[in-house]
Amino acid sequence: ATGALSAEIDRLVRDVEGFPKAGVTFKDITPLLDDHAAFTAVVQALADAGRDAEGRVVVDKVVGMEARGFILAAPVALALGVGFVPVRKPGKLPHETRSVSYELEYGQETLEMHLDALDEGDRVLVVDDVLATGGTAAATVSLVEQGGGTVAGLAVLMELGFLPGRETVGALPLTVLHTV
Ligand code: PRP
Repeated sequence: ATGALSAEIDRLVRDVEGFPKAGVTFKDITPLLDDHAAFTAVVQALADAGRDAEGRVVVDKVVGMEARGFILAAPVALALGVGFVPVRKPGKLPHETRSVSYELEYGQETLEMHLDALDEGDRVLVVDDVLATGGTAAATVSLVEQGGGTVAGLAVLMELGFLPGRETVGALPLTVLHTV
């Protein structure tokens, strides 16, 4: 979470004040995605979370969450040579799904995964752009576990260190490339 890559992420993630509503500062990753060298380095660093110390791939699937998580998780899956599984907001996945709901500050959010997305015993790397409250990640972990998988790790581009995401996700191996 330190060093040159963290500094690059800091340089290439733009703060947008007041988006999507007043009082919120949005972390805009589009300048980073637009930079081939930085995007490549980020994907490689996230993919390392799916390898052991000898460089062997130790996961069977990469799971990514709509929408920005997809942009990072899909190339990580390709880098590791494993399949990609999408977790989506309600009503977006066409086949039979399992849902998990969780509380937001105001209201509720639900995430879904296809029932047949994982095989029993699959080891899963979960990849997203931002770990904030941890609600999205914790719901995804729950979807993976209910689907018969085990979460080998959670890897995120950025952690908002002033929010309790780390506590929310619990004892999982957590890879963070940059902390704000
Ligand atoms: C953002 C982000 C993470 C999540 C983190 O997604 O991409 O998935 O919030 O927040 P949390 O830790 O508090 O759950 P968002 O819901 O904005 O979806 P989007 O990528 O489709 O815009």
